[in-house]
Amino acid sequence: MKYLIQTFGCQMNEHDSEIIAGMLQEMGYQPTTEITQADLVLLNTCCVRETAENKIYGKLGELKHLKRQKPDLLLVVCGCMTQQEQVAEKLAQRAPHVDVIIGTHNTHRLPELLAQARATGKTVIDVWEKEGEIIEDLPTYRQDGIKAYVTIMYGCNNFCSYCIVPYVRGRERSRRLADIVAEVERLAQAGYKEVMLLGQNVNSYGKDLAEKVDFADLLARLDRIPGIKRIRYMTSHPRDFSDKLIEMIASSSKVCEHFHLPIQAGSNAVLKRMNRGYTREYYQELVAKIRHRIPHCSVTTDLIVGFPGESDQDFHDTLELVRNVRFDAAYTFVYSKRSGTPADKMPNQVPLSVKKSRLQQLMHLQNKISREINEALIGQDLEVLVDGESKTNRTKLSGRTRTNKIVIFSGPSDLIGQLVPIRITAAQTWNLIGEWRNDQRS
Ligand code: SAH
Ligand code: SF4
Ligand code: F3S
Repeated sequence: MKYLIQTFGCQMNEHDSEIIAGMLQEMGYQPTTEITQADLVLLNTCCVRETAENKIYGKLGELKHLKRQKPDLLLVVCGCMTQQEQVAEKLAQRAPHVDVIIGTHNTHRLPELLAQARATGKTVIDVWEKEGEIIEDLPTYRQDGIKAYVTIMYGCNNFCSYCIVPYVRGRERSRRLADIVAEVERLAQAGYKEVMLLGQNVNSYGKDLAEKVDFADLLARLDRIPGIKRIRYMTSHPRDFSDKLIEMIASSSKVCEHFHLPIQAGSNAVLKRMNRGYTREYYQELVAKIRHRIPHCSVTTDLIVGFPGESDQDFHDTLELVRNVRFDAAYTFVYSKRSGTPADKMPNQVPLSVKKSRLQQLMHLQNKISREINEALIGQDLEVLVDGESKTNRTKLSGRTRTNKIVIFSGPSDLIGQLVPIRITAAQTWNLIGEWRNDQRS
């Protein structure tokens, strides 16, 4: 029996899919990348923007044909989309060929639900309204042997006014420090070099625990685990980025000098209506403080254009902020209405044509800045953790710097999994090109 998982959305979902894969393999399923070979197809969905949902409906349409040809095929839909109010029921009506619909809080019940669907031949829907206890020790199947995702907390309490995540992922729940340490120690023993700590707002880590620990304490503890060379985290809310955390990162040898700090907008009026809890001045001071303490760091961000009521002046504030801060890179999005969020009901929604034109202007500016920053690295030797073959050119290798920049270079495949110095020879908007020399072997 073979399974195929298709994952949409963020790293959280990617990691959930690794756990789902682990459970399926314990049930005796084997992975396949060929959809026609699969006996079970699972879509792990995202609903953060409408475009994500449209992709999933498109996919469900394709799967309908497949199911017709292969009636025994089991189709499962899980993840954030199904957790929205009434969506599971709508989905069952619109796509009756789906066998199991499961929410975000009860993924561990997948084996039972599959058995139920097989026995009854009916669509099984199991979506829990409330988050349950954190379940530890679920089997996890990681395809990558070098870098591993480790969840440190679930859910989000921030309720940014545009965002669906708190509604579909529940309230903040932190894993116990000892459980995280044990997992990272096991990963180190298995040869992993890098861990990426996951949470919607990692700076809230520990607030809900009985033990008195915060995110900086967690990093300090993980920093001491032998074998792990790099520690990353995603995502940290600028509002909660403490001086203690900056000091901890500055003094650590493993926590990477990459700061992903989503700002979302450059206008204080918009930030306020987004419920982000900081001003542009606060944000710029935070970045200045980080850069002063950790001079060679990179700073990246997320930006939304066309939030309800965003005026031309508001948008120019965003452009100006981007010019001032000079981000290494930015993920830019067009605001997407999400039903059930406060922004959905706000007046003065921005027309799509305006949103698209603002996105173009913003991307144009950011791409220019990214390229300039990358070009300034030409001639430097940077430490690269080699991930594998380059996705765009199989004859080359690809890796990342500590600042999370992709470097593409030629070298022998035994470098994969190693940290090597690479001389940067050319720069593009999204990548660096480098040179590895045999005499640099460490
Ligand atoms: N917890 C993380 C990110 C979660 S979603 C954080 O707070 O940074 C990732 C990004 O998607 C957000 O940073 C935001 O820029 C974008 N996003 C979220 N909701 C959106 C919406 N309704 N429309 C457009 N972009 C959105
Ligand atoms: Fe969404 Fe805001 Fe929570 Fe991030 S912090 S997941 S943007 S509500
Ligand atoms: Fe999408 Fe859910 Fe992540 S909505 S961005 S998959 S938390």
